[in-house]
Amino acid sequence: MTPPIIRTLSELRAQTTGWMRAGERIGVVPTMGALHDGHLSLVQAAKDTCDRVIVTIFVNPKQFNNPADLENYPRTEEEDARKLARFNVDAVYVPGGDEMYPDRFATTVSVEGLTDVMEGAHRPGHFDGVATVVTKLFLQTMASDAFFGEKDFQQLLVVRRMARDLDIPITVHGCPTIREIDGLAMSSRNLLLSDRARVTAPRLFEEMEALAEGVACGQEFAPLQETAIKRLETAGFTKVEYLEMRAQDDLSHLDAPNRPARLFAAAHLAGVRLIDNIAIGD
Ligand code: PAF
Repeated sequence: MTPPIIRTLSELRAQTTGWMRAGERIGVVPTMGALHDGHLSLVQAAKDTCDRVIVTIFVNPKQFNNPADLENYPRTEEEDARKLARFNVDAVYVPGGDEMYPDRFATTVSVEGLTDVMEGAHRPGHFDGVATVVTKLFLQTMASDAFFGEKDFQQLLVVRRMARDLDIPITVHGCPTIREIDGLAMSSRNLLLSDRARVTAPRLFEEMEALAEGVACGQEFAPLQETAIKRLETAGFTKVEYLEMRAQDDLSHLDAPNRPARLFAAAHLAGVRLIDNIAIGD
């Protein structure tokens, strides 16, 4: 059965208030739609953990620093609802732009430090947009649990810090990245890849794996990084924005994996910006 679609905050509150009074555990899976198996794994995790599950679909204009990117972002609401049917979720919350940001909306949630690097450095304002909308979604849904993919690992840390700093009573669960059979991390943006670019795209993960393996075996990071970037450029990636090793807990820069570390990358391929991250030494 296709899930009930809720478009207004008053309807949503009417639902969630009843659930809360009944002492039910409410899980939220925030998304921007164009759902793929990565999102669906978050929905499954929410179903396994909570009594009620709300999936939110909102293409948040505040987190796009590039108007063309916002314009091109895939919007597939009917198909999304069909994909959610088998999970028997309790509500799909699809607020309009005015519902989320009414006239004279004037508040921004900004998380310092964690947002200075990588996605934050390359996409000015992005994390302010994410933190603002996620704060609103947490408060609107009154969820006790939220589910985010490790695919956007920096986002996961930013959201956790925001919830902790603002004393929002919610547990933020991080769920593993789901990959295509050839290793490409699932992402709504993959829909924008041409057939040719789709064949090349898994090279990002392959190069990251080779680099992570080398570093885990004690090789020096910098030369491996240089080789990986060269190989990606030869394969057709036009711009490798970053390929960095950072601490898993606070994203501080590392030259050696002397504490739990991850490798993070962002690169452009045929006009599509891909990001990925993997743990080192797993
Ligand atoms: O990861 C996403 O899809 C978005 O950044 C999120 C968390 C739904 C906020 O708009």
